[in-house]
Amino acid sequence: MNSSVTLRAAATQALPALVLRPWSARDIPSLIEACRDPVLRRWTSHQVDDEAGGARWLETQRAGWAGGERFSFAVLEEGPGGEEGPLVGNTALKGVTPGGPAAEVGYWTAAHARGKGVAPRALEVLTEWAFGTFGPEGLERLDLLHQVDNPASCRVASKSGYAFDRVLPATPPAFPRDGHLHVRRPGD
Ligand SMILES: CC(C)(COP(=O)(O)OP(=O)(O)OC[C@H]1O[C@@H](n2cnc3c(N)ncnc32)[C@H](O)[C@@H]1OP(=O)(O)O)[C@@H](O)C(=O)NCCC(=O)NCCS
Repeated sequence: MNSSVTLRAAATQALPALVLRPWSARDIPSLIEACRDPVLRRWTSHQVDDEAGGARWLETQRAGWAGGERFSFAVLEEGPGGEEGPLVGNTALKGVTPGGPAAEVGYWTAAHARGKGVAPRALEVLTEWAFGTFGPEGLERLDLLHQVDNPASCRVASKSGYAFDRVLPATPPAFPRDGHLHVRRPGD
């Protein structure tokens, strides 16, 4: 897969456009800053504390693109002249297998940018790209998982058209509480 894919969520009356593109070394300082947030650390496995951690993160993302199984995008606000603005989040398509019917989506929003619909807007664009790119190869379903005690993530799921499917039992230590599985199919 070409790792120069760039996606865009259009501006709204109140909000700037969002640009989604593969992570780059220039994002590392903002990534380190975002990962200082305890809420982000609680709900994701990202523990990027310094430049070395940032370089490892980048290498994992690069390998995901090269291997064709994980496609993560840095989400940035677009400036008034079309230039890249601040990093506001991450959205990723995970668990892609050749011809496989299902994959998973994930996301986070930097603490300073929460509550403005960044995650649902970015997820909508990622979802369209995922079905457009991998649908012809057999992708039929995108799964979204979150723990029951993460209502903000549950809101992102419903606002993005990922219908509640079922409760998943806890699988400690990775998931100590029950979870929700939300699912979206093409055309949903
Ligand atoms: C879950 C998360 C991605 C939502 O991102 P977002 O860009 O703020 O999404 P939204 O603006 O649509 O807000 C979603 C919900 O967050 C809550 N919220 C609103 N403002 C908020 C704020 N300033 N700070 C935190 N949460 C807020 C609300 O419940 C909101 O739902 P509502 O629109 O019905 O009021 C974000 O809170 C986050 O990064 N959390 C930590 C990482 C995480 O949980 N990732 C998902 C793992 S499954």
